[in-house]
Amino acid sequence: MDAEPRKISRSKNVLKARWNRRAYFIRRKIKRSQFLIYKRLMKLTLFLLLLAASLATIGQNQAKNLPSDAAAEQAVIASGDIVDCANLSGSEATAQLLDKIPGTILTLGDSVYPDGSGTNFSDCYARTWGRHRARTRPAVGNHEYHTPGAAGYFNYFGEAAGEPGRGYYSFNLGAWHVIALNSQCSDVGGCQKGSPEEQWLRSDLQQNSSKCILAYWHSPRFSSGDEHGNDPSMKPFWEDLYAAGADIVLNGHDHDYERFAPQDSDGAADPEKGIREFVVGTGGKNQRGFHKALPTTEARSNKTFGVLKLSLHPGSYAWEFIPVPGQTHLNCYRQARGVEIEMGIWRIP
Ligand SMILES: [Fe+2]
Ligand SMILES: [Zn+2]
Repeated sequence: MDAEPRKISRSKNVLKARWNRRAYFIRRKIKRSQFLIYKRLMKLTLFLLLLAASLATIGQNQAKNLPSDAAAEQAVIASGDIVDCANLSGSEATAQLLDKIPGTILTLGDSVYPDGSGTNFSDCYARTWGRHRARTRPAVGNHEYHTPGAAGYFNYFGEAAGEPGRGYYSFNLGAWHVIALNSQCSDVGGCQKGSPEEQWLRSDLQQNSSKCILAYWHSPRFSSGDEHGNDPSMKPFWEDLYAAGADIVLNGHDHDYERFAPQDSDGAADPEKGIREFVVGTGGKNQRGFHKALPTTEARSNKTFGVLKLSLHPGSYAWEFIPVPGQTHLNCYRQARGVEIEMGIWRIP
């Protein structure tokens, strides 16, 4: 009678042991699969950490290659027809504007009157605009050539004026390529197609065609000033600049301020590919009159001395004519808060 229950309890024990063993294997399987999951999670975490680290490094390297904010915007301040040795008051007033505006100064020729002798540079120019010589990139005018070879000019400005005796050179400002030209054609072998200066300009433009381009020199291709007006001998420079997609031309010579709509080398308005010219002969010498405005004249004034400030960005520029204090009476300009101002922004198409 006893044998049966014992048999049953033995088989119960066997079943229990089997179950325990199975449970053990199941637990082991779970543990192993948990371990595998952990292992995979660890691998994934490590991979994500490495990915984040490498992306950060790439980002840093790219940031190094991008121009900084400072390089992205470049300030340029320009004017020509500046220092009169017989009366420094005009150029002293415009020099006081420069004192407050940081940036590269471009002189647009006729830096000192009555002529560009060494003495006039050291005794007159040096007393007003000369205090900003270290940040000035000059262009040469006709009054500098009253001294043979413009020797006073080249001696005074040194390396900042490019190769001595040539009067044309170029440099970069952020995303912009800036070209100084010499409009005293007869002193440098002519300005016609194939002349040394025109050949130099074409090859300089070929090497820098990807950039925004600003060119500056003394005698304007276009001007409604009654003393000089249009200078057709500048047309070859305009053709080369237009073909290269240049954006801005700055000139002096006529003692006034004039802004043109973008136009081609024949003076036809061309908002897509045209070049915008500014005449800024307002450095401090004196003012002169106007003829009838040209079809592309957008604004002009002969009421005040002042400087043109340009903010050059990659792909756009802003301009502002800054008159000397107390002389805000400009004609043809729009009004803001009762003061007539001349400023604008142009996005390069
Ligand atoms: Fe002048
Ligand atoms: Zn001149």
